[in-house]
Amino acid sequence: METLWDHRYAQRTQRMGSSAVRELLKLTESPDIISFAGGLPAPDVFPVEEFSAACERVLHEQGALALQYGATEGYRPLREMIARHTQRYGINITPENVMITSGSQQALDLIGRIFINRGDRVLVEEPTYLGALQAWNAYGAEYVTVSMDEDGMKPDALESALRSGPKFIYVLPNFQNPTGATLSLERRIKLIELADRYGVPIIEDDPYGQLRYEGEHIKSVVTLDNEFRQNGEAGYRGNVIYMSTFSKTLAPGIRLAWVVAPPEVIRKLVQAKQGADLHTSTFNQMVAYEVAHGGFLDRHIWLIRRVYGERRNLMLDAMDEFFPKEVSWTRPKGGLFLWGMMPEYLNSADVLKRAIAQNVAFVPGAPFHASGGGTNTMRINFSFATPDKMLIGIERLGKVLREMVAEKR
Ligand SMILES: Cc1ncc(COP(=O)(O)O)c(C=O)c1O
Repeated sequence: METLWDHRYAQRTQRMGSSAVRELLKLTESPDIISFAGGLPAPDVFPVEEFSAACERVLHEQGALALQYGATEGYRPLREMIARHTQRYGINITPENVMITSGSQQALDLIGRIFINRGDRVLVEEPTYLGALQAWNAYGAEYVTVSMDEDGMKPDALESALRSGPKFIYVLPNFQNPTGATLSLERRIKLIELADRYGVPIIEDDPYGQLRYEGEHIKSVVTLDNEFRQNGEAGYRGNVIYMSTFSKTLAPGIRLAWVVAPPEVIRKLVQAKQGADLHTSTFNQMVAYEVAHGGFLDRHIWLIRRVYGERRNLMLDAMDEFFPKEVSWTRPKGGLFLWGMMPEYLNSADVLKRAIAQNVAFVPGAPFHASGGGTNTMRINFSFATPDKMLIGIERLGKVLREMVAEKR
């Protein structure tokens, strides 16, 4: 229905909008539905008591500071802590390389603000994180996509995509959202070499790197880039902008994440952030610092790995038992998601409608594809549902899939 406001919006607003899938997903919020749709951490592992004690300590000991405006770069002790933690992975960054953001989602938006002119191409994996596409659509981005397999972006496809002159490369190397794929070490090195050769910067989005349930940690792209440049000094000045978040290790509701980048890029991001929100909540930063420092965060991440690792195994076993053989899926070594691939003759939006009627939900894969396609794919989250609900949900979804395969055949 047309309204008084329709012609008043900016052109970029026209690319925003509700989709049929989003409307369907609203239905999944009902408590009767077992949802594998959101990227939600398990609420039962939130460290509520530690947060409660930290809030009291912060207000009691530094109340005036916590309730005051703060620096746009972020709370200094938190930036120092992040620099120290990052150094453990073999890259000697300083707090001048770190900016705190209100979630990684804000970091994506700020990157769009400082880099994207209308019509610029952004190189993304196919499929990729939907939230990044949403952030950059507002700046008029176009996309060039690179196909993937279980080891991430394919190098040959990457090189031909680089020839189209993208503004930057967006990569999710660890347990990618949505597929769960991890970029192999060889491909990370190749990515760095190609990006350097073509003079294109890399945006590395890494919310899940610490949530590994099997296999060995692979060095981040930013660390490998620093090695590639043979920079033995303190501080990072290379070709990668790295981001990670406390959303999946502490709690998403505090909206706290960080960017690691060369100091000159941090300065530009700071200017952009001033226009967006002045700074991230001082109180939240101080509380998160109180909770995280002194070893708690490391211990907590061990707990999360154990809980999510068990849930992943349980889900994979249940899918083996209940899903029809016509459907295949990834077996991620970490993160929150796996990726289902149905026969071409099934459309995941239709499957979702039937699934919702059976009180179970997932996210259809098509919107994660910047160049279209993927209508037979689905993203399934394994961190949120409790084990008993997970089993019931996968059994229901398996039944829907078996029925729909049988009908189409
Ligand atoms: C790849 C990726 N980037 C960014 C985000 C946004 O995270 P945040 O809660 O820090 O804004 C998410 C959230 O699921 C994500 O999966």
